[in-house]
Amino acid sequence: MRSIWEHANSQLRDLKVYEPGKPIEETARELGSNASDIIKLASNENPLGPSPKALAAMRATLECSHRYPDGGGFYLRDALAKALGLARENLILGNGSNEIIEFLGHVFLSPDDEVVTSQHAFVAYKLIAKVFGARTIEVPAIQYAHDLEGMLAAITPRTREIFVANPNNPTGTLLRQQEIDRFVARVPEDVVVIFDEAYYEYVEDPPDTLKFVRDGRNVVVLRTFSKIAGLANVRIGYGIARPELIEIMQKARQPFNTNGIAQAGALASLDDAEHREKTRRITDEGRAYLQEQFAAIGLEFVPSFGNFVLVNVGDGNATFKALLTKRIIVRALAGYDLNEWVRISVGTMEQNRKCIAALQEVLSTKRAA
Ligand SMILES: Cc1ncc(COP(=O)(O)O)c(C=O)c1O
Repeated sequence: MRSIWEHANSQLRDLKVYEPGKPIEETARELGSNASDIIKLASNENPLGPSPKALAAMRATLECSHRYPDGGGFYLRDALAKALGLARENLILGNGSNEIIEFLGHVFLSPDDEVVTSQHAFVAYKLIAKVFGARTIEVPAIQYAHDLEGMLAAITPRTREIFVANPNNPTGTLLRQQEIDRFVARVPEDVVVIFDEAYYEYVEDPPDTLKFVRDGRNVVVLRTFSKIAGLANVRIGYGIARPELIEIMQKARQPFNTNGIAQAGALASLDDAEHREKTRRITDEGRAYLQEQFAAIGLEFVPSFGNFVLVNVGDGNATFKALLTKRIIVRALAGYDLNEWVRISVGTMEQNRKCIAALQEVLSTKRAA
């Protein structure tokens, strides 16, 4: 029999599927231990969990599990619009902000189109571009940060989208307002610029990219409830853009792409400033601790603006595996061209301390060998 691959879209042959942080359940199974003994610092999740308000709203909505959700997400888009000083027509909901990256593929990408992004940028951009047969131009990073000048120079008549992750994952670097303003002013108007702001809420004095939306530029801002709101499991994020762009993206959306439980949780989380503040506080404290400890151990790290830190451990994969045996999951980054590094999410202070202690043991065993 001939291979079914002959009928599959050929660009999928060498597509490497997204490798998520190793799940706690899988690790517990492999180590023969309890899930509760495992510390996961691998997916930039909120170690405090969701806000109590979000949990209560989600529990109440479970009772309506037999009903289809409001696919248009009226109330959540309305609340987001109010919070952002925009209109409901400026917003689209996604099953995680990742899904909106996919909508952008459906809307703009055809085979041989080009997407520009940075080396070490969040990997979903190039994976999704590939699904649509588009080519990704990864502009070399400067000191692990996006080189906006280089990205401008990489634009060709085939460029449809430019992805700017700010702060970037996995490097944690941040672009400031002036650089962004200069950049957007020089991008051709018909090229869509996507600012992926999954970690926006962790940044003190973050740059304003919504002004480009207000100005009618072809700019899409992506945000998510997966990080500071602690709702990664229920999958909900949003895109912000001018109404015409949103209208086109809505056409690429499945009717019930975001479920009602997630919408209710997200809506309630918007009302919980206390949970956001507490998350910010423990993240700032934990990140400062991790960075201090890396410096004390003599490990190179990239100062981070997100809820994670990229640290050079010499052999990322070996360190990931060694930490696993100590029931700590971090993220190895071979897929990001960062073989020597691991990314460690900020946990509770207890988790951070255990992680550093385990890392010290792993490194000293390696040095002794
Ligand atoms: C930069 C960036 N963008 C988007 C996402 C996807 O988040 P979501 O859970 O909203 O799909 C992540 C998740 O890690 C991320 O780091």
